[in-house]
Amino acid sequence: MIVPDGYSDVPNGKIAAVVTHLEMTAPPARRDDPPGNWSLRKVDAPALAWYRDLYRRVGENWLWLARPHLTGAELAAIIHAPGVEVYALVEDGRDEGFLELDFREPGQCEVVYFGVTASLIGAGAARFLMNRALEIAWSRDLRRLWLHTCTFDHPGALAFYQRSGFRPFRRQIEIDDDPRLDGRAPRDAAPHVPIIE
Ligand SMILES: CC(C)(COP(=O)(O)OP(=O)(O)OC[C@H]1O[C@@H](n2cnc3c(N)ncnc32)[C@H](O)[C@@H]1OP(=O)(O)O)[C@@H](O)C(=O)NCCC(=O)NCCS
Repeated sequence: MIVPDGYSDVPNGKIAAVVTHLEMTAPPARRDDPPGNWSLRKVDAPALAWYRDLYRRVGENWLWLARPHLTGAELAAIIHAPGVEVYALVEDGRDEGFLELDFREPGQCEVVYFGVTASLIGAGAARFLMNRALEIAWSRDLRRLWLHTCTFDHPGALAFYQRSGFRPFRRQIEIDDDPRLDGRAPRDAAPHVPIIE
C-alpha cells in the first residue's frame, strides 16, 4: 500500500514504527569477540514456558509483539518446526540472550529474533551472539541472510546490524494495537514509546 507523503495520523490506542529490512548475501568480515564469559546453547524443542520467559525478558521493553498472544499450539507449531532453531546466550549459567533462526526457505535464513537482556546491553554480549549467529548461518548452504528491525527496538540495533555486515534494502511502516492496552505487555514497558489512549 502506498501512503501519501507528509504526516499521517495514527489512531489513539495504536502504535507505529518504521521497519527496516537488512540482508547480506555473503559472509561478512569477521569481528573479534569482546571479552566476556558467555557461551551459546542450542535449545532443541524449547519448552514453551522457557521460551515465553526469555522472549519476555529480552523483548518486552522493545514491544516484541508477535509471540505473547499465541496459544501453546500456535507457538509450538512455529518454534518446533523443522528448520527453526532457537539458541540462548548463557552467562553464569543463566539464559540472558535470545537468537531464533529460520532456515525453512531453501538457501535463506532469517534472523527472526536477536537480543540480550537489559543487564547485558552494551556489554559486548550482543557482538558475541552475532558472531555465533553468523557462524551458524554461513556454515549452511546459504545465499542470503536477512532480518528486520524497527524503531520500537533498541536505538542502537540498526547501526549494530549494519556494522555486522547487513545492508538495508526495504523500509515499511508498521501499525499495531498498543499491546500495553490489551494486556499483552505491562503498562510500564517501552517508555520510549509513550502510550496515547
Ligand atoms: C540492539 C542490540 C543487539 C545492540 O547491541 P549492544 O548491546 O549495543 O552491543 P554490544 O555491547 O555487544 O556491542 C557494541 C559494541 O561495543 C563493543 N564492546 C562492548 N563491550 C566491549 C568490551 N568490554 N570490550 C571491547 N568491545 C566492547 C562491541 O564489540 C561492539 O562493537 P562492534 O559493534 O563495533 O563490534 C542490543 O542492545 C539488544 O539486544 N537490545 C535489546 C533487544 C533488541 O532491541 N534487539 C534488536 C531487535 S531487532
